[in-house]
Amino acid sequence: MTMDVAVLTIFPEMFERFWTHGIVRRAIEQGQLKGDAIDIRAYAEDRHKVTDDRPYGGGCGMVMKPEPLAKALRAARARMPEAVTLLMTPQGRPFSQQTAAELARRRGLIFICGRYEGVDERVAQRFVDAEISIGDYVLTGGELPAMVIVDAVVRLIPGVLGGQDSAAQDSFADGLLEHAHYTRPRVFEGRPVPDVLLSGNHAAIDQWRLEAALVRTFLKRPELLEDRVFSEQELAILRKWSKKLENLIKVQSACCTDPLSGHQ
Ligand code: ADE
Repeated sequence: MTMDVAVLTIFPEMFERFWTHGIVRRAIEQGQLKGDAIDIRAYAEDRHKVTDDRPYGGGCGMVMKPEPLAKALRAARARMPEAVTLLMTPQGRPFSQQTAAELARRRGLIFICGRYEGVDERVAQRFVDAEISIGDYVLTGGELPAMVIVDAVVRLIPGVLGGQDSAAQDSFADGLLEHAHYTRPRVFEGRPVPDVLLSGNHAAIDQWRLEAALVRTFLKRPELLEDRVFSEQELAILRKWSKKLENLIKVQSACCTDPLSGHQ
């Protein structure tokens, strides 16, 4: 099955390089992805191919006109009747790995890349299935957000990544950040690779990776653990840490209250 992606933009040239590199390129070559940047300007009917206009009610900035966008959308939808239409806007639902996984199950995605102050509200109401934001900051247009989303989605299309379950092991895929990775040399500037990774003991390596993922998540993104339902293996690791911490505290308390220890 091929995922069909159409990006509606007034800067289609921004995508020329995007389709021709890395995993996106490979997915296109393997027939798993079809990517098309559609020039909204080509659907403007006036002589100057105008795609924006001043806002009703006054104020600064320009608004993307509804007619060229609606025409471009209708053409894209006629070609991709099963596609969902996504508007890139900082007011949208925050994009996440979970949203990427949902989108990866679709047959087609149509992106509307706003510029200026945004698109005419009637287009948003009439055509848009979901508004998506890639973060709480304002960019000058929706092109980079569309690229971010296509990039995150394409690697989740079954068969796109080399390894059987590379995507299943991603950070966030199971609610934890991914463990650290190492490659040759064994010692880099005096820093060795953890011994267990050289041991060939796959059970021990899996255990180390799970523990490393838990530590990372706890240190970098503790909120990801708040609603987690821990597995038995994870709980065993947490209990082990808890014991170690208790022992440390015990030793500290003992040494600090012991007048002979030399500590205060
Ligand atoms: N357009 C401008 N800023 C954006 C953002 N943060 N996310 C999605 N679309 C945008």
